[in-house]
Amino acid sequence: MCMMRAYNGVTDNFASATREFNTRKFHWTDAKSKKPTRPEDPHQYLSGFGNELESEFIAGALPIGQNSPQICPYGLYAEQLTGSSFAASRANMARSFLYRRRPAAVHTSLERIEGNTTFTASFLPSDDSLHVVPSQLSWRAFQIPDKSGPEVDFTQGIRTLGGSGHPNIREGIAYHIYAFNSSMKNKAFANIDGDFLICAQEGHLNITTEFGHMYLQPSELCVIQRGIRFNVAIVEEHSPNGARGYIIETWGTKWELPELGPLGGYGLANSRDFLHPTASIDTTSTGSWTIITKQVDKYYASYQDHSPFDVVAWHGTFVPYKYDLTKFAYQNSVAVDHTDPSINTVLTAKSRDPDAPLCDFLVFGPRWDVAENTFRPPYFHRNCASEFLAKIYGPTGGGRSEVFVPGGASYEAGHTPHGNADQRTMGAMHMELKPMRVGENSLTIMLESCRSLMFTNWAVKDSGVLAAEDIPLAAWDLVPDRFGKDEEAQKLLRARSCAM
Ligand SMILES: [Fe+2]
Repeated sequence: MCMMRAYNGVTDNFASATREFNTRKFHWTDAKSKKPTRPEDPHQYLSGFGNELESEFIAGALPIGQNSPQICPYGLYAEQLTGSSFAASRANMARSFLYRRRPAAVHTSLERIEGNTTFTASFLPSDDSLHVVPSQLSWRAFQIPDKSGPEVDFTQGIRTLGGSGHPNIREGIAYHIYAFNSSMKNKAFANIDGDFLICAQEGHLNITTEFGHMYLQPSELCVIQRGIRFNVAIVEEHSPNGARGYIIETWGTKWELPELGPLGGYGLANSRDFLHPTASIDTTSTGSWTIITKQVDKYYASYQDHSPFDVVAWHGTFVPYKYDLTKFAYQNSVAVDHTDPSINTVLTAKSRDPDAPLCDFLVFGPRWDVAENTFRPPYFHRNCASEFLAKIYGPTGGGRSEVFVPGGASYEAGHTPHGNADQRTMGAMHMELKPMRVGENSLTIMLESCRSLMFTNWAVKDSGVLAAEDIPLAAWDLVPDRFGKDEEAQKLLRARSCAM
């Protein structure tokens, strides 16, 4: 495939910053880079969020002033791809026009296939194979297929942990992990059910979409919307251990930037840091291609004698994008008290309840903690949202359990009483409150959802890495009863009891 290399010849401080990143002491601004991506990323992008975008691989391929000329430039075919209804509000309109060598309609008839049986999107309470977890779960690192073993590609390496709802009622969410050791070969996948938010944890991915290429490496995410065909290749040079990461699949909603309110125009995930692919036609692949689609949790295959990535130009608002989580501009208290974690929201996906997001995607990385006269770690809490945490990199522990490791995960159902299991929680009551760095050398993502998840057999039985259920009980036994030993409080209690 032909790839454009952007910013050739640019010299900057990336080399030293990359060395720092290898030891995980990294923040985007340390790089002082003149390009918007890390050095391994060979692709060129368009920036912004929710914009009207356009791109052409060769000059003159994009029609001007109309969408569908009688004959498109160079004999290309115009094809619309929508992600919203035709008459959706302008704010929610999601549609693009693609100009391609052959329409996507050119393929064999679809045949039903079994597909990946550990990859599911059906979470109805009547399904007895699903498990309700009323408290907590924790998984050690999910296993990546050995490179010396059978080949497992991206679509074969998806394992569903849990979710809520169903794609056919256009409401709900699924949490998956991916772990694979080889590239998809002449194969494309399209999820008709919902959008994929993919967050890389191990290995580098070269993702080809109908809109062009996206490079994804650990601590970067991308969103590929429903219906868009894509291929995932593993970048061997940077993936000696294979590839692993997390997928959040959403139905009936879309990922948006959170409102900034009094923060003003900037902060958190800035819109200019979201990067969209540029048009790039596949002119090198040969042979037959297989297109796998997932619709209503069923799998179908069709075949064609040419690459599905034959788009020469496109324009519209329905376009995949990527984001580097190390660019996140953290905001927090500079006076007193621990700010609610929503201040770390990167993207939010609304539900039909305006006050309860289907999912908030949060990030926790290196930042300063300066609040004075304050218990700085998260307070004990019983939130209505369910919480799913995953460590992208960093030392073991520091989350909800002592086995919280990169490549693993933990989950707390809504209203599960908990705090922070880190030893710092106890020490924080007596520590000297100097400005201090927190989250150094680590990056953790958290998904907060208004839904109570139901979990698959794979998640609670077959993954081989389930560490514990009900992990917090012993930890909280260590919390002392200070009130019961406070002499003045006890004296006042006795006096009040006598007065009654
Ligand atoms: Fe929590």
